Amino acid sequence: AAATDYQAEDATISQGVVESNHAGYTGSGFVNYDNLVGSYVEWTITAPGGPADVTLRYANGTTATRPLDFTVNGVAGAVGITFPGTGDWTSWQTKTMRLTLAAGTNKIRARATTADGGPNADKLTVTPTTDDPQPPS
Ligand code: GCU
Repeated sequence: AAATDYQAEDATISQGVVESNHAGYTGSGFVNYDNLVGSYVEWTITAPGGPADVTLRYANGTTATRPLDFTVNGVAGAVGITFPGTGDWTSWQTKTMRLTLAAGTNKIRARATTADGGPNADKLTVTPTTDDPQPPS
């Protein structure tokens, strides 16, 4: 199925700020997580339901990995996903995980689990893996 991009700056942000001072982001900016445990970005996305590849585009200009826990509609989905250093804050990379989504609206939350907070977050790309239903033969 088709990939859909959801910008971090358009998501719900708890303990973080939208910034645009490091080049290379898509959309109008990125989210700078506050440097503490529990800061999060939560995207509201729609899906056909079932497994999806979910990709976070991020930058981490430090040498310390910044893990995030991902929940889907409040339920643990992908725990301890690591976002290693990307070299500098203007170097963006992607990390993809497989999440199971509900049909319709889903809230995907990416929550920082260390005192450094999360990496700078540019966008989430959601690609449902569900094949189109085949007509009976
Ligand atoms: C720097 C950088 C920010 C980043 C922050 C951090 O201040 O400019 O973009 O979010 O470090 O360590 O989280």
